[in-house]
Amino acid sequence: MCGIVGILGTEPVAGRLVEALKRLEYRGYDSAGVATVENGSLDRRRAEGKLHNLEERLASEPLTGRLGIGHTRWATHGAPTETNAHPHMTDRVSVVHNGIIENFKELRAELLAQGVTLSTDTDTELIVHLVTRELEQGHDPAVAVQHTLRRLEGAFAVAFIFRNYDDLMIAAREGSPLAIGFGDGEMYLGSDAIALAPFTDTICYLEDGDWAVLTRNGLAIRDRNGQPVERPVQKSVASALLVDKGNHRHFMAKEIHEQPEVVAHTLANYIDFAESRVLLPDMPIDLASVDRISISACGTAYYAGLVAKYWFERLARVPVEIDVASEFRYREIPLQPGSLALFISQSGETADTLAAMRYCQSQDQRIASIVNVRESSIARESDAVLPTLAGPEIGVASTKAFTCQLAVLACLAVAMARARGKIDGQKEAELVSALTEVPRHMSAILRDEAIYDSLSHTLSKAKDVLYLGRGINYPVALEGALKLKEISYIHAEGYAAGELKHGPIALIDETVPVVVVAPQDEMFEKVVSNVQEVAARGGQVVFISDGSQSAAGCDVMTAIQLPQTHPFTTPLIYALPMQLIAYHTAVFMGTDVDQPRNLAKSVTVE
Ligand code: M6R
Repeated sequence: MCGIVGILGTEPVAGRLVEALKRLEYRGYDSAGVATVENGSLDRRRAEGKLHNLEERLASEPLTGRLGIGHTRWATHGAPTETNAHPHMTDRVSVVHNGIIENFKELRAELLAQGVTLSTDTDTELIVHLVTRELEQGHDPAVAVQHTLRRLEGAFAVAFIFRNYDDLMIAAREGSPLAIGFGDGEMYLGSDAIALAPFTDTICYLEDGDWAVLTRNGLAIRDRNGQPVERPVQKSVASALLVDKGNHRHFMAKEIHEQPEVVAHTLANYIDFAESRVLLPDMPIDLASVDRISISACGTAYYAGLVAKYWFERLARVPVEIDVASEFRYREIPLQPGSLALFISQSGETADTLAAMRYCQSQDQRIASIVNVRESSIARESDAVLPTLAGPEIGVASTKAFTCQLAVLACLAVAMARARGKIDGQKEAELVSALTEVPRHMSAILRDEAIYDSLSHTLSKAKDVLYLGRGINYPVALEGALKLKEISYIHAEGYAAGELKHGPIALIDETVPVVVVAPQDEMFEKVVSNVQEVAARGGQVVFISDGSQSAAGCDVMTAIQLPQTHPFTTPLIYALPMQLIAYHTAVFMGTDVDQPRNLAKSVTVE
């Protein structure tokens, strides 16, 4: 899940490579580098850490080549050091690489046995030596790359430049995305269209097994069998504007605050407000005939799916099988041909989700996906795509993408319930009206963050924090715990409140804050009983409810009062305090909120 870019330019390219890398930083940010060819010679600059370190290096030691490649890294093999940073190179070739070479050990042993000196711990360095060996045998660059690609196992995207070739770049894709851009006498490549948006909106995507030879005048693509192929050239809708933080200190804060708007925008795509009904875009899937759904996703997107399980089962009376994609893909689940398989992903590139989807394709499932990046692999390979209109999400911790996923899933559940005759028009109007109120309630919550700020002082001292919820808000508790651990590094766990007495209650003492998601729905009284069990053992309760503090029936450390909402939409509403608690705690603790350690926005490796 690194980001790669390449430019065959008419002017020096280093500055533009860095500009494109900034747009790919969501894919990885532990080191970065660029390499160029100038007067036939290869040269590179690399730096550990964030991109500004690379910018500083380039300012003091500029590169002026008009052909170059760049990389921003999320380490897989080898620590995030400058030595391990890309581009890797020999005196003949330089490469940037995203993905994992699975036969790394065999190739490494083979090269070492041949006397090759390896200077890094990376799998990427092996690629550069394999190509070099081919070049030394007299092959031209295209043949050298083709021979090398045949030796590589795994999912990857690569781009090469060569000594003595001022007008040549070769790229290949096997499992990791790669877009090629067409300019005026220039050519570009990047891990996605967003990286290329400042330069061109005319792009094509390589397909798995493709490798491409780029010159300033054009492009020749071959498939894995070496046959020339054409890939459709399309207009990208990716925005050329570099997304900024607006008036916010972090992207995460901006994205939290965008939720009333983007959730409203997303709902408007699926709701006919005049008729108070859900109106899905044309789908090649007959919702009335769906009698079983399997859902697969990762992280926050998985929690959105877990909420949807409650909606689909209760409203549409359809049984739902759900699992994290990294398990789903290997479970060899027996699936009835023709059933609906649903995949949820902000990026649309998550490797495990994509693999789970391909398993379902092989089992003759009808594939629907909920994605935020419309040009992503998951979107492109689905039978039906239900987009979230969240806009680019830059903060690594997912916020607005989650609530937009919930908005789409809620609409899909209502549409399916109606199609299956499980709800009537009146019930549908009631649910649509509840959804319509969500943006307003979100705005109300975001108007005053003082309580989250003061709570952050207490939470920052905690070693462990528990999150409890029941029913449809159990996944919201899981999401709250994930948010806190991702960006504050405090250990946090979410539990179904009813499970408390089956183990987790042993953890509770006066040092453990317990965040309770407690809307006044049918589970409220049961949740309140669980709160009292916590309070009786000295636990520090953070009670989040549309009921008053006294409804908790015991002393609580902090009560956060939310607007009264329809039980159907509570997951969308209660997600916001989960995000705000995590955000303010992380800010108080001074962590890197938008780019927390060890994480990447888009997990394109297994
Ligand atoms: O792009 P995806 O939605 O497929 O990503 C899935 C997870 O990697 C993602 O939700 C992750 O858990 C986030 N960091 C959560 O904040």
